[in-house]
Amino acid sequence: MSLRPQLIQIAKQIKQRLLHVVHQFDDATIPLFASHGRLASLYYCVFSRRFDREHLAVLQGRIRYKQSLRDIGESCVLLRRNIHRLEKGLIMRPRRSVFAEGYIGETVSCFRDCVMAKRLDHEEQKWAHDVLCLYFDVVSATPIVDTQRKAFSAISSSGAQVSSVPYAHDTLPKCPLDYDELLTLFKRRRSVRWYQQKPVEWGKLQQAINAASLAPSACNRQPFKFYAFNHQDKAVDIAACAMGTAGWVNNLPCSVVVVGDLSAYPKERDRHVIYIDGALAAMQFMLACETLSLSTCPINWPDIESREQMMSKKLNLSPYERPIMLISVGYAIKDGGIPFSQKKNADTLLKQH
Ligand SMILES: Cc1cc2nc3c(=O)[nH]c(=O)nc-3n(C[C@H](O)[C@H](O)[C@H](O)COP(=O)(O)O)c2cc1C
Repeated sequence: MSLRPQLIQIAKQIKQRLLHVVHQFDDATIPLFASHGRLASLYYCVFSRRFDREHLAVLQGRIRYKQSLRDIGESCVLLRRNIHRLEKGLIMRPRRSVFAEGYIGETVSCFRDCVMAKRLDHEEQKWAHDVLCLYFDVVSATPIVDTQRKAFSAISSSGAQVSSVPYAHDTLPKCPLDYDELLTLFKRRRSVRWYQQKPVEWGKLQQAINAASLAPSACNRQPFKFYAFNHQDKAVDIAACAMGTAGWVNNLPCSVVVVGDLSAYPKERDRHVIYIDGALAAMQFMLACETLSLSTCPINWPDIESREQMMSKKLNLSPYERPIMLISVGYAIKDGGIPFSQKKNADTLLKQH
């Protein structure tokens, strides 16, 4: 009789015992490691590698941030941030006669680099140009401002119509929706997991992304991309990388991965912003889909190394690009079930202080 099955059984038992001891050690020591920031870092340095990828992504992001200022592509985060800061200065009440002296030199030089690189998105360049024109029109003369005004006039396209600049609130389009109509849209947006075997039109995805792009983002950086797969084989393959699609993944006609870009920041302190900005845009994307007769379901993206590797490979991501969440998209099956999912109400969620 072969000893092999018995040996395998014993090995399994030993492994279980060891895991049990490890978990007991973990439970017993965590209060100590959780008592101080340095000890917590020691814990994640010595006993757990679960933050490795995040640490690596943040550091790689910082390196890439610096490179991106030399190797300018279709968008420039520093330019976007500084132009945003200038716009805030321009709308300040009362507006100061001199502002932005601390970063106007950096902004003009960044704008010059972007113009020379000739790869910046046309609308982004126009926005930066127009805001800089308005800034130099209204700001009072100082040695710093005068130097930068001169530097800017050497690169500005004079005579162009200046339109991408701050405007008054009452020129915004009137809102055609009232509260009840908006509530109906919110009630119609439910997590849908059962879809018709009907492809999702690329044009509709573009429309929904245009709506998503109007979401707020910190300093207007918009540090995310939406990777869409609207051929079923690929959609299923991508969505299967996440854990929460078990049982319904095979009927997905389209899946979207929201990917955050940590190279948008020179400092670690902003590492969470990709998740906030990405989620706000994702919400607008899902609501926009609903108005286009498309249903969606957000899908959790767990930070598990093997899955991260899988997704990175499939999407050809750089180490500083991090999946934030997935979203399934498609035409709902009419009698497909929707969990009731009781929501909390304002009495619970709204606290008056
Ligand atoms: C970040 C996030 C991750 C989610 N992950 C999953 C998931 O992996 N699988 C799933 O079936 N639903 C997932 N959902 C859908 C939630 O279960 C659903 O939003 C919640 O139950 C409320 O239902 P509703 O969206 O219909 O209002 C996720 C939702 C969010 C916001």
